[in-house]
Amino acid sequence: MNLKLSVLACAALSVLAAEAHAARTIAFAPYALPDSGTVAIVVRDGVPDEGAFAQLDDASNGALRRAVDAADFKGKAESKLDLPGFAGYDRVLLVGAGDKPVTPRLLQDVGGTVGAFAGGSRAPRVELLWSGNEPDAAAHLATGAQLGAYTFDTYKSRDEDDGAPKAGEGELVIRTAAGEAASDRFQRDWQPLATAVHAARDLVTEPANTIYPETFVERIREAFDGLPNVSFEVLDVADMKRLGMGGLLAVGQGSQRPPRLLVVRYNGGAAGEAPVAFVGKGITFDTGGISIKPSSNLWRMKYDMTGAAVATGTVLALAGRRAPVNAVGVAALAENMPSGTAGRPGDVITTMSGKTFEVMSTDAEGRMVLSDAVYYTQQQYKPKVMVDIATLTGAVVSALGDEYAGLFSRHDDLAEQLIAAGEASGEEVWRLPLHPSYAKDLESPIADLRNGGGGPGAGVGAHFIGEWVDEALPLAHLDIAGMAWRESAGTATSPKGATAFGVRLLDRYVRDQHE
Ligand code: BES
Ligand code: ZN
Ligand code: MN
Repeated sequence: MNLKLSVLACAALSVLAAEAHAARTIAFAPYALPDSGTVAIVVRDGVPDEGAFAQLDDASNGALRRAVDAADFKGKAESKLDLPGFAGYDRVLLVGAGDKPVTPRLLQDVGGTVGAFAGGSRAPRVELLWSGNEPDAAAHLATGAQLGAYTFDTYKSRDEDDGAPKAGEGELVIRTAAGEAASDRFQRDWQPLATAVHAARDLVTEPANTIYPETFVERIREAFDGLPNVSFEVLDVADMKRLGMGGLLAVGQGSQRPPRLLVVRYNGGAAGEAPVAFVGKGITFDTGGISIKPSSNLWRMKYDMTGAAVATGTVLALAGRRAPVNAVGVAALAENMPSGTAGRPGDVITTMSGKTFEVMSTDAEGRMVLSDAVYYTQQQYKPKVMVDIATLTGAVVSALGDEYAGLFSRHDDLAEQLIAAGEASGEEVWRLPLHPSYAKDLESPIADLRNGGGGPGAGVGAHFIGEWVDEALPLAHLDIAGMAWRESAGTATSPKGATAFGVRLLDRYVRDQHE
């Protein structure tokens, strides 16, 4: 083993990422075994004696093999073994990669485990040793590492600066034999995605006293700053009144914070080519309105704007990696509050399309804002396909928990493409039915429709949204109510808290179907 090599390699570190708040910088360096510090090693099922494992085992005179045997560590998927103070190292982390074929998703998960570890570690540098020479594999490890290292510390007071590194700060170095191509690939194709996921998580985690419709718009403008081929359209209350957007106005009218409709357009594809549209529910806080929610866990309703963060965050990823596609991200932004100016159950609303609905519950506000948002997007941007994303119903949480988002579509091809993108990206969706009988559940005695009641909650909500889009336009509805936030342990690439579920899924869908 050549220990000098690691010192030389450090000088060649290429530093790639810096975030607004504390986060690990992802860097690449030539493959070598450092002789000290904090290192992470990927181990396949059965702990084969090869690569970095074999090198470290040699360097430690067989202590590494004794350690894994004593700990009964087998390299199974999702397992890890943390060895503090091992041999000459501060820490050695072994990450199990299982025995399944090595896919981008597996590599991102392994990278995520290292990233999550690095996010909580005070080591100034965490080095992931990957002796492989495939640029894509190393880029996927780095992508997962950046996703897993996510932290949000905007509101944490800092201790007196004692000179020591803070947890989660410093570098995360991918040591790989893949050379410069790995960092190029990462920077060009994947880092913009991880950065967009972080930006969306930041927006979701921010409380509702800082993020409301106007500040959401500002934050999105800032996130896109400097990116080419991007334009914005922002509708205010006067615009909405002119356009007759009764659904969006009715939800926003009880709040001191006026509603907004934000459209961010990215034109990376052929001129004149119809865009792909993502339309997100952006309720910056959902009290339920006059149909007020119970107070337990009500704080969580700050994440009721996740759909809007994901719709615009997906476009941020596409613009960031200069994807050759045209896309629009739409955020239907309002705060759902009870007050003397709030809408009431029983009110009849006229939407932009001219269709009317009767409000059965002011807590079914997601479909109210989306009715105008999907209609406007269809009329104004003439997309070739539309996906709406919303934390729409508690019912989908009961049905699918936090493993799958609910997928609803009358278009089988689109549904299958999204299911495949879910499997590939690790953000999975499960298709649920849209029965024709749901139309009956939505009949009102005095208006064209009503906004709640009747049969299965998640399906009826999906059906309602579909009422505002031409049947010829392929539409999918993603109900992410169960996926937007993780209260207990997170996953490798998505720590506890805001997930921004959907950005990776929709980015993958665009890569597969529209590039
Ligand atoms: N934002 C909620 C749905 C939700 C619940 C999201 C739990 C995340 C976690 C939505 O606006 C809502 O209140 N939905 C109602 C609809 C009903 C009134 C038709 C629901 O699911 O109970
Ligand atoms: Zn809601
Ligand atoms: Mn609600």
